[in-house]
Amino acid sequence: MVGMRIGLLTGGGDCPGLNAVIRAVVVAGSVVHHDASVGFLDGWNGVIEGRVVELDVERCRGILTQGGTILGTSRTNPFATPDGPERALATVATLDLDAVVAIGGDDTLGAADRLYRRGLPVVGVPKTIDNDLAGTEVTFGFDTAVQIATEAIDRLQTTAESHHRVMVCEVMGRNVGHIAVHAGMAGGAAEILVPEEPFSVAAVCDRLTQRHEGGRYFSTVVVAEGATAVDGEPGPSHRRGADSTDQFGHGRLGGIGAWLAQEIEHRTGYEARATVLGHIQRGGTPTAFDRVLATRFGTEALAAVHDGAFGTMVALRAGRIDRIPLSDATGTPRTVDRALLHDVAGPHLG
Ligand code: F6P
Repeated sequence: MVGMRIGLLTGGGDCPGLNAVIRAVVVAGSVVHHDASVGFLDGWNGVIEGRVVELDVERCRGILTQGGTILGTSRTNPFATPDGPERALATVATLDLDAVVAIGGDDTLGAADRLYRRGLPVVGVPKTIDNDLAGTEVTFGFDTAVQIATEAIDRLQTTAESHHRVMVCEVMGRNVGHIAVHAGMAGGAAEILVPEEPFSVAAVCDRLTQRHEGGRYFSTVVVAEGATAVDGEPGPSHRRGADSTDQFGHGRLGGIGAWLAQEIEHRTGYEARATVLGHIQRGGTPTAFDRVLATRFGTEALAAVHDGAFGTMVALRAGRIDRIPLSDATGTPRTVDRALLHDVAGPHLG
């Protein structure tokens, strides 16, 4: 029995669970269907440049628990150069591949959808620790990021209490605040600030003052890196390389946590400190939940390949793994549940 020839790529920011998807596609493909797999190096860049490695059962031993991606990743956009799409399609034809499994977020899957319309037989697997992809209730890597952020907030709480300080914790979340809301709730934060709702520094300071005057002499504030204030913004000394952009046009976000801590200290008189968790949230081994979800996604992506269901993305919906059109999954980010933010995670529980 001769199986299919499948190419895999991982694109965009990495996150825990990518290797679990690769393992599921390669091992189940080989054992169940006699497929042969190759991996493109560094996302779409490896497809454009024809940089590949053979993937087999042996190569996938032990990678379930490994963070990062054994294939490497990049934010290369095939549509950023005039010949990018043609070169990508030519590589797939030269390698005689029957299918490509693209594992990535909005940008990677947006490019996959555009290449699908030009004839690429591709199935998408959703990935982003920001958890903002439409069409799926959750992406793998998010649970791990929330776990790491929660542990950090727990640690900040004890030192906040000892010193009677306000500790500001800046977490990832470019356009949406899912990590901030979930980690903030799990850690009992006094304030949770997200990109979806610009906040007022004055109102935050009023609530912190009320809280401290009411007998709570310390607070933690969780702020997503993409959050903005209506009454001020970080100056040049707080920004972190905000003027550099990647191929998809994303700027590096800069310094909201450090600026907010300074504003709080200045306006309330309470001593404040800032911690930026940054890429710690994206590194290391996936949680059990993320290993299981990534494995389920990989298994379903393989099934979609064998069904010829190209132009689709696997998704978690009501606990089941479904397939949806790639075009439904990209473009508009899934924002935080406002009821969860205001009614359940609100300051009254901080
Ligand atoms: O998109 C995921 C993400 O982790 C965002 O939360 C963050 O803004 C961005 O990637 C960081 O990108 P980079 O790894 O290129 O600094």
